[in-house]
Amino acid sequence: MRSKVGACVVLSALVWSANNIAADAPPTMVSPAAPLKPVALPDDVNKPLLLRACAVCHPIELVVQRKRPVEDWERQVARMVGFGAVATEAEQDRIIDYLERWFSLSP
Ligand code: HEC
Repeated sequence: MRSKVGACVVLSALVWSANNIAADAPPTMVSPAAPLKPVALPDDVNKPLLLRACAVCHPIELVVQRKRPVEDWERQVARMVGFGAVATEAEQDRIIDYLERWFSLSP
């Protein structure tokens, strides 16, 4: 019993450090370093999908706190899928479309 609990703690610690999550945050909820400012999410057909897939581990505001270069969004979404975000390839494309459309830095 005791050793099982120990192994579990070690495993969680490994997973946490691999993901760079602050040690005091539970693994499924990321605590932002700075307070998040509210961000208005423009309505379009892909917004509900973004909210469903990308507001699970952190508030959606963390995602859109700042605009990014267009090519960054594809990379970020792939990274999040690696963390366990649930979205089919088609859904990932729609999420990327949304973020590129509304939250890209103009070149
Ligand atoms: C399974 C949990 C999980 C889900 C679901 C998730 N994320 Fe994340 N996200 C994280 C973690 C953990 C971090 C903080 C660590 C990091 O950025 O490496 C993070 C941070 C971010 C950041 C901030 C990166 C930075 O350095 O500023 C962005 C942007 C982001 N996520 C976008 C998304 C998008 C878009 C989705 C939906 C496709 C999504 N996330 C869904 C786990 C998740």
